[in-house]
Amino acid sequence: MKTYNKFVDYYDEIIRWNWYDVDSEIFFVNELIENNYLETNKKNIEILEFACWTWTIARELEKKWYSVFWVDLSEQMIEKCNNKNKFIIWDMTTIDLEKQFDVVLCNFNSICHLNSWEDWQKFFKNANKHLKKWWILIFDILTIFEFENITSDFRWFFNVKGDTICLEMFKEEQYYKWLIKMFINSSKNNFELIEEEIKEISFPVEDIKKELENTWFKLKHLEDFHFGEVNDESERVYFVVEK
Ligand SMILES: C[S@@+](CC[C@H](N)C(=O)[O-])C[C@H]1O[C@@H](n2cnc3c(N)ncnc32)[C@H](O)[C@@H]1O
Repeated sequence: MKTYNKFVDYYDEIIRWNWYDVDSEIFFVNELIENNYLETNKKNIEILEFACWTWTIARELEKKWYSVFWVDLSEQMIEKCNNKNKFIIWDMTTIDLEKQFDVVLCNFNSICHLNSWEDWQKFFKNANKHLKKWWILIFDILTIFEFENITSDFRWFFNVKGDTICLEMFKEEQYYKWLIKMFINSSKNNFELIEEEIKEISFPVEDIKKELENTWFKLKHLEDFHFGEVNDESERVYFVVEK
């Protein structure tokens, strides 16, 4: 399975700081955890973040909650991680930490990087296995509507520290494929081109809801991020489900 390798050097600046308002996302996730915390009044909330990548979110959550443990497939990630005791490189569909947490989080359409429905099913089962009873799994998707929008006309250029980065997305069968071209300014305007391709996929919200119920989860909250109620034109949808 492939993840972003070279793009790691540009990811935060381009995706996290340019594309989305990450502070409002951190506030939102914190509120979701807080609501559950107030219901149970449990102390020392332990969070497991799947697909944490550059731990933008985990780093902030750790300021508020008792502990955050991170899992990601990316080996580049470990180099960026300041606490290697709390981080493991593994596939989130198969990992078994032999421990249960209060919250399992999989943020920023990371689940869409699992390229088959079978892997999504495995992910739900594995998340369930790592959760304490009455506690919550939080994840979000980019909807099919949003991927179709992006692939209809999308080409972005960025300049980061003298390098030029081009992001495009194409549809290929049922997949949505990022093509990332990095023109690296190696010396005096000699540019070296490095390319990476990342495939994503999405499924209808109703199918996901049914599968969650089949995996013994109860849907607690469904939200179109920034817009509220989910509809056919929702772009990014958060699911909060209870074990
Ligand atoms: C969009 S990035 C995640 C961003 C991060 N969660 C955030 O909020 O900024 C997607 C991440 O999923 C990870 N990933 C993809 N497939 C995975 C798998 N099977 N198991 C664990 N991590 C995976 C990639 O390495 C990448 O870090």
